[in-house]
Amino acid sequence: MTGRLALVTGANRGIGFEVARQLIEREWSVWVTARDPAKAEAAAEKLGRSALPLALDVTDSQSIENAFCEVSAGSETIHIAFNIAGVVFGRGSLTGNAPLADVDLQGFDDVWSTNTRGMFSSMKEEIPVMLGNEAWGRYGLKGVIINNASVSAHGVFPGIGPYSVSKHGVLGLTRGAALDYGKDGLRIVLISPGGVDTPMRRASIEAQGRDPDENPAPNVQHRTNTSEEMADVVMYLASPNAPSSIHGTDIDVTMGMLTGPFAPPAA
Ligand SMILES: NC(=O)c1ccc[n+]([C@@H]2O[C@H](COP(=O)([O-])OP(=O)(O)OC[C@H]3O[C@@H](n4cnc5c(N)ncnc54)[C@H](OP(=O)(O)O)[C@@H]3O)[C@@H](O)[C@H]2O)c1
Repeated sequence: MTGRLALVTGANRGIGFEVARQLIEREWSVWVTARDPAKAEAAAEKLGRSALPLALDVTDSQSIENAFCEVSAGSETIHIAFNIAGVVFGRGSLTGNAPLADVDLQGFDDVWSTNTRGMFSSMKEEIPVMLGNEAWGRYGLKGVIINNASVSAHGVFPGIGPYSVSKHGVLGLTRGAALDYGKDGLRIVLISPGGVDTPMRRASIEAQGRDPDENPAPNVQHRTNTSEEMADVVMYLASPNAPSSIHGTDIDVTMGMLTGPFAPPAA
């Protein structure tokens, strides 16, 4: 396989799926990952023939090794990676918001090992592959890594302490890698969404006994953002023509949630 190749971790639904869809629309071939191979297959089928299904559990080192072996056998390289595989509560005993001391260690470890360690493990595989690329974008660009954080990388909501910890970690991880590899032709950036209408947001609002449609994100428009809006930003960052000066930074895509005090609920 030749051409422009991307990998999206956590691509079978939500923001990751939409990013894969928009990349394919722009003629990228995309490795579409999910933990369950059948879900990866189903997502790839919906996305069309430039979608390459790949089983990947970012918490599992064997799964990571297998997945990247498959990538190197199937496409030899990748030019773009969007790392978004993530969970809010993990597989601990709690499935909804709770004060910190009520969270069990498994819940904490699962959120950390998915959102933060899983991103680290993915980047450890992606970076050497990208460093071997010929330059394909402006200013000697060889690869783009876009990591996904959250409003919770910058401020915290009550009841989701482990999630906030994991997202603060993602911020440091991205900044560190950007300083290590910017000189070598990699653009490494982070985006921080606020509230985006996805299965994850719906499930987490419902777990609080609330209706997601009645509870929009507390941003300046009192409107839950769409995955399309997030993917539009990713497409800009992934472009071979994007300025190299956007590097090592976090793009606030919260519609004002980080600009000042959270907006009050709509009357
Ligand atoms: N939606 C929002 O309002 C919002 C706001 C800020 C930040 N975010 C962040 O955006 C990311 C994705 O959110 P989303 O709303 O699109 O969620 P989503 O609809 O639940 O999608 C999450 C994706 O991550 C995958 N995933 C979970 N655990 C994984 C693992 N161990 N290995 C590989 N893939 C795994 C899921 O695949 P499986 O089918 O295998 O579970 C799924 O494809 C999360 O990190 C979330 O924190 C979301």
